[in-house]
Amino acid sequence: MRRRLAQSLGLVLTTVLVSLTCAVLGWGGIPRSYEDIRRLESALPQHRWEEVRVGTNGELVDVETGKRFDWEEDAGAGYLRFPDHIWGHGFNNVFEEALSAALLAHLSDRTYVFEDYVWSHSPLPYTLYNFALRQKRVPLNAFVSGFIAGEKVHSPSNTTDHVRANISNPLAFRRLSISAHYYDYVCPSTLSVDHRLVLFAGDAPTFKDSSSQLEWWSDRIKVLGKGKRCVEIREGDGNAPGPAGRRMFDNHFFGSREHVAPLVPKLIESPVLGQFSWSPLVEDAVKRTAAAIGITSESDDTMPHTVPGLLAVHLRRGDYSRHCARLSLWESNFMGFAYADGVMDQLNITQALQEEREHIEDGATVDRRKALEQHYMKRCLPSIPQIVQRAREVREYWAHMAHPSASYTPLTRILLLSNGWPAWLLELSDALEKEGWEVVDPDAGIRKGIGKMQDIDVAVDMALAERAEAFLGNGFSTLTGNIVVLRMASGHEVESNRLF
Ligand SMILES: *[C@@H]1O[C@H](CO)[C@@H](O)[C@H](O)[C@H]1NC(C)=O
Ligand SMILES: *[C@@H]1O[C@H](CO)[C@@H](O)[C@H](O)[C@H]1NC(C)=O
Ligand SMILES: *[C@@H]1O[C@H](CO)[C@@H](O)[C@H](O)[C@H]1NC(C)=O
Repeated sequence: MRRRLAQSLGLVLTTVLVSLTCAVLGWGGIPRSYEDIRRLESALPQHRWEEVRVGTNGELVDVETGKRFDWEEDAGAGYLRFPDHIWGHGFNNVFEEALSAALLAHLSDRTYVFEDYVWSHSPLPYTLYNFALRQKRVPLNAFVSGFIAGEKVHSPSNTTDHVRANISNPLAFRRLSISAHYYDYVCPSTLSVDHRLVLFAGDAPTFKDSSSQLEWWSDRIKVLGKGKRCVEIREGDGNAPGPAGRRMFDNHFFGSREHVAPLVPKLIESPVLGQFSWSPLVEDAVKRTAAAIGITSESDDTMPHTVPGLLAVHLRRGDYSRHCARLSLWESNFMGFAYADGVMDQLNITQALQEEREHIEDGATVDRRKALEQHYMKRCLPSIPQIVQRAREVREYWAHMAHPSASYTPLTRILLLSNGWPAWLLELSDALEKEGWEVVDPDAGIRKGIGKMQDIDVAVDMALAERAEAFLGNGFSTLTGNIVVLRMASGHEVESNRLF
């Protein structure tokens, strides 16, 4: 009897498992393997797998002659790696950290070591996310190219190109970042202290701003790392108390204007953003998407630098309904590159309280908490009427601000970047269309149909927003901040970036 029951239970469980598996595969399919991208990444010319090896004394030697290999030609003062880079977070958290770490490598005259985008450390090849299988590791070159991913970018003087750099240090052109995989080959963990230096983020003092932080670290790396090919900075997980948990570029860093604002011009002037481009995979999807949603024509061979009259609007929903309420409770400020100098619409709590109290009809008893919550929700999780009103304000401002001589077009079209439900997006689009806007791909259906590459969909949306004439985003969101800094790096006026 027992046995029969166990058997039928087993059968039921198996059936359920098989059906679930079929459902997951039917819904999302087997995720793209990225093996092709990984091979290209591995074959980057600065990865000299065949030419060099680590000799018995720890020096890098020429495979053929056995003589010391002059790695300084490629790598400057050596390599800099952050082995405890962030993982299990969205692309934009990883991206803002990678930009900052690459800048420190550049300022330390070292070659940046780039990492995979890591979603999970599970032993299985895939993880389950939103009812679909997802790769647990994606090579960085699936998302981006350019300095932070080891790729040479085309002529920076080409303005149709994505890259508009002013590289002050011509030597920087020669220093191509290497993959963590190759780093493991040229800097094995068995190297002696003559060749390898390990530093700890927790050993640093606290810094009032990022300029002093970057200076302290690059000095330390230069002095202690002199002559050493391999330098690593170890970090904590951000949770453990005290120095052991410290990270270099953590939420405290990205939540502080003093840290973020001075970083922006340095990123833009350095090859980190001066030599940025999306990956060919993303660029290709961007081109196809732009044509499919009707913001470029099929015959356009290259994406224009600016899509005239287009306002890209970032609306984070989903988990933000809880997140925004908490931000209001904590009276948190913005996060990430939305702090860049010159970006309008910054959050000022004193001013917010004044404004909200003025808006209350009888002006009488509005408590602080309530007023703040109202303000935070408007800016973090705006309602449809609030979105419509803000879009109207931005359109009016743009018409008013525009220099008649500049290449200015009145804003008439909207592209919504959002994880909101299609029904909500359609309701919003209706409301916007009543105001005279043309909403492209209102429920994001066309983009979803084209992409089907869940990992890089976010990058495609970002690349489109980067080319819009104006952008309206959410200052609490890292994605918004990254779009802002990319727009600034590619030469859009800072005033073309607005926040709710
Ligand atoms: C700039 O880029 C475009 C498209 O990639 C190319 O056709 C053109 O020849 C380039 N111009 C220069 C000066 O490199
Ligand atoms: C580029 O850099 C040089 C010096 O490195 C400077 O003189 C020049 O003004 C810069 N150009 C732009 C457009 O910023
Ligand atoms: C915030 O707003 C108040 C009131 O308008 C103003 O006095 C203060 O200078 C502002 N603070 C910042 C940092 O801009």
